[in-house]
Amino acid sequence: MVEINKSEKMNEFFNKRAASYDEYMKNNVNNFEEFYKTIADPIIKTNEKIKILDIGCGTGLELKYIFEKAPNARIIGVDVSAEMLEILLKKYQDKVDQINVVKDSYLTLEFGENKFDYVVSVMTIHHLLYDTKKKLYTKILKSLNNNGKYIEGDYVVSEGKEKRLLKQFKKQMNQENLTDGFFHIDIPFSIKTQEKLFKEVGYRKFDLIFKKKEAAIYVGVK
Ligand SMILES: C[S@@+](CC[C@H](N)C(=O)[O-])C[C@H]1O[C@@H](n2cnc3c(N)ncnc32)[C@H](O)[C@@H]1O
Repeated sequence: MVEINKSEKMNEFFNKRAASYDEYMKNNVNNFEEFYKTIADPIIKTNEKIKILDIGCGTGLELKYIFEKAPNARIIGVDVSAEMLEILLKKYQDKVDQINVVKDSYLTLEFGENKFDYVVSVMTIHHLLYDTKKKLYTKILKSLNNNGKYIEGDYVVSEGKEKRLLKQFKKQMNQENLTDGFFHIDIPFSIKTQEKLFKEVGYRKFDLIFKKKEAAIYVGVK
């Protein structure tokens, strides 16, 4: 899960691996089907055209389950990898009228205010350090409608492992002169740190709805 080889730029890393990405995830994510299905659990079943922002949407693995809950949802999918987005659009040809893809970084893109019923991020935020994550979570919170939900599924580690990895990665970042978020470096946090971040930013709730080995899903409510 954790990579400490010489760092690759984020978009190049995923462009290179886009064609085999879905197969890789099916074979390597523990409880793959259950994990992705649970991402959509907090979404209330509806035929309304609800608005969902999916940051780091990749090839859209999570969208299959999101559309099962909300078949008419309007999705904005943001990703830095053109190749991943191309696969997403091919996969969901029958939903093209409902999906808008934006090839950009969710770190710099403006999300607007009070616009979305749900914001989703799956397996994409674990490349960020504490302060960068905090800024992103604040932007997500602003972009949600009142009572809107932020659903995050990601790699998590124990508190001890978090400390060890953070130290190791800060050293690597200094050696290679890297900025977090732009390179494919894994910096997974513990559930405790995630909860602290959600509370600091101002989410009303932090609900842990899935935790198996190093995969977790937690939900913040505006
Ligand atoms: C492991 S994939 C996850 C894709 C999808 N959410 C899933 O669970 O299958 C991570 C994705 O996040 C994208 N990504 C990483 N950092 C990003 C950033 N700052 N802005 C936009 N996309 C980013 C990558 O290009 C990649 O497609």
